[in-house]
Amino acid sequence: MPLQIVRNDITKMKVDAIVNAANSSLLGGGGVDGAIHRAAGPRLLAKCITLGGCKTGDAKITSGYKLPCKYVIHTVGPVWHGGDKGEKELLESCYRRSLSLAKENGCESVAFPLISSGVYGYPKDKALKVAVDVISEFLLENEMTVYIVVFDKKAYTIGEKLFADIAEYIDDRYAEEHSDCYSRRLSDMDSMPYMGSTVHRAPKMSAPTMASEVCYDSIEDDFCGSYSPVDLNEKLKELDESFSEMLLRMIDEKGMTDAECYKKANIDRKLFSKIRSNASYKPSKPTVIAFAIALGLTLAETEEMLKKAGFALSHSNKFDIIVEYFILKGNYNIHEINEALFAFDQSLLGV
Ligand code: APR
Repeated sequence: MPLQIVRNDITKMKVDAIVNAANSSLLGGGGVDGAIHRAAGPRLLAKCITLGGCKTGDAKITSGYKLPCKYVIHTVGPVWHGGDKGEKELLESCYRRSLSLAKENGCESVAFPLISSGVYGYPKDKALKVAVDVISEFLLENEMTVYIVVFDKKAYTIGEKLFADIAEYIDDRYAEEHSDCYSRRLSDMDSMPYMGSTVHRAPKMSAPTMASEVCYDSIEDDFCGSYSPVDLNEKLKELDESFSEMLLRMIDEKGMTDAECYKKANIDRKLFSKIRSNASYKPSKPTVIAFAIALGLTLAETEEMLKKAGFALSHSNKFDIIVEYFILKGNYNIHEINEALFAFDQSLLGV
């Protein structure tokens, strides 16, 4: 999984580089800055003294000394003054400069704290969004594993409104008997608040009744048509295809490249080539759902892809309910979904 959110002490991360939320003097301080200097030992400060400070939004690199990482990238985040003093652009620059320094120094893995979200007062949900947006944009063009390290739970919010919305959605469904009756879910959708994006209407797919007829009912209109022999063969072939065959077919049908799909799914290239080369590959459930999200599948298509891998969505599983929430809202941003999954202590989407 190229971008992961983990709860840890960044000084413990065994990665090529960790990023320090420093101040412009680079002479140490409290928070993560203090923790890194303590763990690295006095030679880090001795080196930093020679660097002549660092401008806000910029970054400088040193060795990791006694830390379990090769490098420390020191970046200086903006102090929050309400959001109209260019804070967002400066914070974006911290992540961009740190990532390019990591790349220039051959790093394959980097760990970030939530820069500026502590002493510098940047609202945590906004700080997280900047981090995720800049890192995921970088990962579309670069191969690297990036961690966002959350030190304590309170230092992490996805925004009260979204959190409350998801919590309510979970409560409404978590208790109910698991049912695979699409019509109940479809009727639920009508009562769901829109969040600025159209809700995907999941077509209801009933089991084929006759060899010559497959019925697809959608909310807008019922369509029960007979297929030509050619179409029918296609449909019957789809019923027999494996997960990886369905995945590759859907990538083609969506007009995506393989790379676009696995990057949007937050899946690394190595795993994708394993899936691509093995028609009977058995993926994990989070991996299947990550691809469904990357392909923008409806709930019914997601269920179908899960079935190919031997899984099903269940209302007795918070992870599944949160994924269903985002699909029905039409929000296919896998990093936003992972932020929500992390906030609810669930495993993340991806490998
Ligand atoms: N590992 C990971 N994250 C940590 C750790 C740790 N050991 N310690 C703190 N954090 C988190 C905080 O919870 C916060 O979410 O790092 C984030 C950044 O908080 P700060 O360290 O306060 O950094 P920042 O808000 O950027 O303020 C920088 O604080 O420490 C001084 O010298 C530093 O003056 C600079 C200012």
